[in-house]
Amino acid sequence: MIAYEDLKQLNAPFTAQFSTQFNKVIEKGHYILGEEVAAFEKEFAAYNSIPYCVGVANGLEAITLSLKALDLPADSEVIVPANTFIATVLSVLHCNLKVVLVEPRIDTYTIDPSKIEAAITPDTKAIIVVHLYGKCCDMDQIMSIKNKHNLYLIEDSAQAHGATFKGKMAGTFGDFGAFSFYPTKNLGALGDGGAIIFSDEAHQSKLLQLRNYGSDKKYYNEIIGYNCRLDEMQAAFLRVKLPYLNEIIAHKNKLADIYLKSLNDNFVLPVKHADYHDVYHIFNIRHPRRDELKDYLEAHVIQTAIHYPVPPHKQNAMKHIFEGQNFPVSEEIHATTLSLPCSYFHTTEDVEYIVDVMNKFN
Ligand SMILES: Cc1ncc(COP(=O)(O)O)c(C=O)c1O
Repeated sequence: MIAYEDLKQLNAPFTAQFSTQFNKVIEKGHYILGEEVAAFEKEFAAYNSIPYCVGVANGLEAITLSLKALDLPADSEVIVPANTFIATVLSVLHCNLKVVLVEPRIDTYTIDPSKIEAAITPDTKAIIVVHLYGKCCDMDQIMSIKNKHNLYLIEDSAQAHGATFKGKMAGTFGDFGAFSFYPTKNLGALGDGGAIIFSDEAHQSKLLQLRNYGSDKKYYNEIIGYNCRLDEMQAAFLRVKLPYLNEIIAHKNKLADIYLKSLNDNFVLPVKHADYHDVYHIFNIRHPRRDELKDYLEAHVIQTAIHYPVPPHKQNAMKHIFEGQNFPVSEEIHATTLSLPCSYFHTTEDVEYIVDVMNKFN
């Protein structure tokens, strides 16, 4: 079976270095907010060419704390793409703000900038864009809407470490870039992890307090905070992988190029534009008989995944919030998308086999 993902194989090249880091942290005996977190924050900020990074517990909290740091008035509306992983929507709900969903583009799967302005009201205070699957949104259009309407911008970059738009890193355009280091991500830890990057120094002390009980001096609490710290051991592991992130991305691009060049026109392929460096956290295709295709591939020992089977506005947890609202483009993507194996451990031979099997599907 060609696995869709296999974390043991994915991490095999790094395990010796992980062990060294593991022993180092144990011996130091500083397990919460120690030197590894501080060093990783510096290194991840440098990777993104941005001054500040605050490590947090996971990607959901990276978005949520970014929103909290903005101190938006109650009843503020926040624009979010209608096709995203549930975390983007949850972050707004966890801040007791109103989610306003906007349709994605059918070709890029990211938020459709031409539909954002119609969703803006006097209560709109922020936009959260999602660089879905590892492709940046059209940041020229997003930035001009942000500036014209004086809105805050958070970039959910959980799937887009290292992606660029016109040479600028995902997560560095807006007020905050929120990242996840969930193990399957292009920069994945061995557990949960996340980070917020930003360029305005004014946000730093607020975020440091928010992630740590509202405190920067032990047992003195300045604001209502959370326990949302990036774990010291995970930071130590992330420091091993960060220097290999570009190599991981290059490998995924090599596999993606084979798919893009060789799959026949029965499949809707991801679009590629000159101004974008896509990182293929997920390599997806679309097909009208997606579920049949998935079963067919499974029968040929190829495991695939669906990102995602149910759009946020139809999830049981929140469908009441969006009752009466329709997002046909998002629904079309959810009904037809299929994610193909494209991990650091997959070989070009794996992908050539998958292409060969797929091109015989009819
Ligand atoms: C687009 C998106 N946003 C947010 C998250 C949340 O990240 P985490 O699982 O680390 O909380 C994820 C990943 O799982 C994601 O894919």
